[in-house]
Amino acid sequence: MKSLEKFSCALRDAGCHYYTPIRKLGSGSFAKVYLVHDDTRSRQVAIKHLFYKVNNDDDNDEGVPSWVIREIAIHKNIKSHPHIIPLLRLILDLERHQCFLVMEAAGMSLETFLQTDTFLMSWQTQRIQQLLVELLLGVQHLHCNNIVHRDLTPANILVDNDGGRVRIADFGLSRSAFPVDTDSKYTNKVVALLYRAPELLIHKILDGGGSGDEASSNKSHYSTEIDMWSVGCILGEMLLPIQQTEDTAFFNGKDTAYVENPLSTKAQLKCIYTTLSVQEQQCLRRRTATTAMLMGRVAPIHLKATDYFTRLFESEVSLWRDKIATIRRKWINQAPRQQPSLDKLMEVFPLLLRCDPRARVNARDALTRMGENQQVNE
Ligand SMILES: Nc1ncnc2c1ncn2[C@@H]1O[C@H](COP(=O)(O)OP(=O)(O)OP(=O)(O)O)[C@@H](O)[C@H]1O
Ligand SMILES: [Mg+2]
Repeated sequence: MKSLEKFSCALRDAGCHYYTPIRKLGSGSFAKVYLVHDDTRSRQVAIKHLFYKVNNDDDNDEGVPSWVIREIAIHKNIKSHPHIIPLLRLILDLERHQCFLVMEAAGMSLETFLQTDTFLMSWQTQRIQQLLVELLLGVQHLHCNNIVHRDLTPANILVDNDGGRVRIADFGLSRSAFPVDTDSKYTNKVVALLYRAPELLIHKILDGGGSGDEASSNKSHYSTEIDMWSVGCILGEMLLPIQQTEDTAFFNGKDTAYVENPLSTKAQLKCIYTTLSVQEQQCLRRRTATTAMLMGRVAPIHLKATDYFTRLFESEVSLWRDKIATIRRKWINQAPRQQPSLDKLMEVFPLLLRCDPRARVNARDALTRMGENQQVNE
């Protein structure tokens, strides 16, 4: 049976006869998202269909896994905001181990939009600035409300058909930013690899990458700063000229000459290292050494990240100046009135990509630097 038909049946089984599926919008490991006509209100909505295996060991009486409960609870509790996709309704079908998240429908994901002719042919830095500001406003709203998104990627950011109005979606990995228990650690296996902050990569490598190492916990302390790194990666992706390859991410482990698996955590960290400025490279080496020491992975006497990460950090290359020059060259022919927006973007860009999470700009300060008058919107 085709996916649309299956989805129609699943909706009917759950007692929803008033939704007519139109087409599939996207899919992931445990969910599919469809554009649907809501016959009762004569409007289109998007429905995320989540299906799960019952897990009676942990969780609750109904066996609904915690990842499902978390996504629903977080999305449901986010106070309404113009740059967060609203959850309109939740339909639970416990008998068949599925649930439906009914949301407002957006035009497309930012990932798709960045490939359209509209973006490739006619976009200007003023519009990228607008898009960034809206993204930052959404992120600020989440952070002010104690939520780390943990999966900010162009696929999880929605835009209207012309690239206008940004709305953040997919709260499948989101969590509370400041746990009551300050000792709480969270898994370091979050955020799609290409948008993952260096502190998570370093921790995962030192932790043995979850490769069965007895001492490995795969858990670390981190907070809202990991989302800001992802925003920096997304901004880089919008500013750099698109190459004619399928991979457009600003940091892409595949671009490095690292011989191991190009999709590995190590290749991604190597790519970040070779791309950043010399100053940031030093910071990355220092942070790695400190993290290694704190995790008991190297004796203090050998406190040299280069000992531990020799192959990762041996490169003399820093591509940062080249990247910045390429970005400026790309946008240089714009009308003079576009220049101030490029300058603002180029001021915020390196601040989002600071290796030290404490030095990384937060959403509120980034907005101030973009010239946005702050309104507290908790
Ligand atoms: N409200 C919406 N309007 C339009 N398109 C949407 C909407 N929600 C999701 N999509 C599309 O569906 C895709 C998948 O949605 P989402 O990211 O929520 O699920 P997922 O990635 O499958 O979830 P998970 O990461 O939990 O497996 C998005 O990348 C986007 O293209
Ligand atoms: Mg997603």
